[in-house]
Amino acid sequence: MSVLTEKQILLGVTGSIAAYKSADLASKLMQAGAFVDVILSGSGEKFISPLTFQSVTGRRAYTDQDLWGNEAHVLHVGLGHSANLLIIAPCTANTLAKLAHGTADNLLTVTALAAQCPMMIAPAMDGGMFEAAATQDNLRTLMKRGVTVVGPAEGHLASGLSGKGRMIEPSEIIGYIRLVLGRKGKLAGKKVVVTAGGTQEALDPVRVVTNRSSGKQGYALAQAALDAGAEVCLITSPTSLTSPVGARVINVLSTQDMLDAVLSESGEALIMAAAAADFRPKHTATDKLKKRDGIPQIELEAAPDILKTVASSESRKKRFRITVGFAAESRDLIENAAEKLKSKGLDLIAANDISARDAGFAVDTNRVTLIFENGSKESLPLMSKAEVAEKIIDITARLLE
Ligand code: CTP
Repeated sequence: MSVLTEKQILLGVTGSIAAYKSADLASKLMQAGAFVDVILSGSGEKFISPLTFQSVTGRRAYTDQDLWGNEAHVLHVGLGHSANLLIIAPCTANTLAKLAHGTADNLLTVTALAAQCPMMIAPAMDGGMFEAAATQDNLRTLMKRGVTVVGPAEGHLASGLSGKGRMIEPSEIIGYIRLVLGRKGKLAGKKVVVTAGGTQEALDPVRVVTNRSSGKQGYALAQAALDAGAEVCLITSPTSLTSPVGARVINVLSTQDMLDAVLSESGEALIMAAAAADFRPKHTATDKLKKRDGIPQIELEAAPDILKTVASSESRKKRFRITVGFAAESRDLIENAAEKLKSKGLDLIAANDISARDAGFAVDTNRVTLIFENGSKESLPLMSKAEVAEKIIDITARLLE
């Protein structure tokens, strides 16, 4: 169950070329488990047909014709009452102006006026129209009323010019939707620090010693914490992943950097999903190691253990009320993980068997056994990393109660 599961999203589509991206937005929301009802404005219909939306959502897409149909009287009120969120993407300068002034001259603006749910708009227009004083005033009016405005982004515009006016991408819009839907979640008002990825220990200015961690489990945890309404700080080494919308990101390279970043933060929970290096080169060459100088002998030393340092710091309970770790093991999973739970002073450890092909590093799924401070255990079946993350966040919230 993600924050989008079974949520009623009302998607308004108005007349901009960015309307073609709305079909992708509707599809992504559906795939994430939401029910999507679409309302097209008259000019929206000129860019994209209701059939396109019906095909991706499996539900009727409404147009202005429905305003005058038999069920019209209840329709505009009903849609806005049952929805968890109204998102208008793309939102033209014209619709934006109508919303600001309470004009209700088509099904979408009538519905918006009657809506009881949170509203979000993703403006899309020419750069000049966006910068125009009237548009800026209208935006301020809407924001003052609690409407969430996402974007627009800088870039190439339909006019051929470049400027601020592009609708932000559907995946980013979904990030904002998750933030709004999660606002009152079980971690609202709480701060969670998550670490992710494999750290990099430099040999010289170009070479590093690292590991196979993709960061996927850590990023999924950051997203799940945001979905639960938490303030999230994501401390990450370089990965190929896009950071979740709403997370404050601290980029680090080495285990020492990660330790410094963790120690600079505090919050209700620290979740250490990063594969921080245990060993690092004893010396980092200031210049690139050259072949002509022969094969280098690399001497390793211990890297700091982040969890142990946090556990041993005097202010541990002041810094984080609970700490959660991971144990990547290739044998004696439970024994090794239970030992780590103790030695690292954790409240919870998620143990995963890295010898399995479908779990652990770099893949999208994970199979973990959760071990609690009191010794109790819970073995989870093979799950997506997003589901594992939701489960760990649920437990974190419970432990914080
Ligand atoms: N960890 C840490 N600092 C390190 C290494 C690991 O804080 N330098 C954290 C990881 O983020 C994870 C937990 O400790 O949450 C366990 O990591 P793991 O690599 O499995 O354990 P190690 O301490 O490295 O133990 P071992 O070498 O015995 O596997």
